Amino acid sequence: MKDLNVFTTLESLRERVKENGDNSSVALVPTMGALHHGHLELVKKGMSLADEVVVSIFVNPTQFNKKEDLDNYPRTLEHDVRLLSSLGNVIIFTPSVNEVYPENHCDVTLDLGNLEHVMEGEFRPGHFNGVVNVVKRLIEMVQPAYSLFGLKDFQQLAVINFMVKSYDLDTQVVPCDIVREPSGFASSSRNQRLSEQEKFDAVIIHKTMMHLRDLAKKCTPSEAKKKAVDFFNKGTLELEYLTIVDPETLMEIDTWVPGARTCLAAHCNKVRLIDNMELIASELGA
Ligand code: PAF
Repeated sequence: MKDLNVFTTLESLRERVKENGDNSSVALVPTMGALHHGHLELVKKGMSLADEVVVSIFVNPTQFNKKEDLDNYPRTLEHDVRLLSSLGNVIIFTPSVNEVYPENHCDVTLDLGNLEHVMEGEFRPGHFNGVVNVVKRLIEMVQPAYSLFGLKDFQQLAVINFMVKSYDLDTQVVPCDIVREPSGFASSSRNQRLSEQEKFDAVIIHKTMMHLRDLAKKCTPSEAKKKAVDFFNKGTLELEYLTIVDPETLMEIDTWVPGARTCLAAHCNKVRLIDNMELIASELGA
């Protein structure tokens, strides 16, 4: 049996982390559970950076703007623990709502500027304020040298970078690539709610983004967007937004810039899916 640790209280987590001595470094992988290959890649990256990896599993109620979404969010703790144990010595933190938000906890309200008004912000009011608060709290609880997040939630990553700088938190935010199935479909906890047919239909998301990559070589962003939306609408999913943005400001662009990215959200029947892809190589070649 591999050494596997599950902790529910901050006190017991701190005791465990202390066992390695004051100089050992910690990488934090914040999750809401329902783990998939994408999460495992984050954990592996964390293992390559730090002495210990803490994976938090906490379905944060304050970032759901629809109660139905919170109620339907998959909770698969046993499966998650098994998956993590396959990676070796991972510390798992599964705090209760009261542990994360004790009575004396005060929420912060951070002005995220444009970051909270575009894309997800427009369609999920209050969502990023919930994310800011829970990630800030988790970082303060775990005190990680590294905090790892997937590029799949591109806007979330931008918000977290902004939050970490704003509060001068002592952690390095490490972005990790999107993990895709061979079809191109991005790994996500929400995929568990899709039938095989729906997964097949949802591949239109990846196809559209690949099509956009080609269009980026020959059209302006607005022409490319129009053609991409037409292409997407040949499938059966319902598009919520498709946008081509500057990677820093997340503002829609009308001329191509390095790192230009498309971000989209669509409904596959009852499941809302998001994805994104870099369309023009960034200067650093990332
Ligand atoms: O990306 C997620 O799973 C969540 O938004 C996060 C970062 C764990 C905060 O609850």
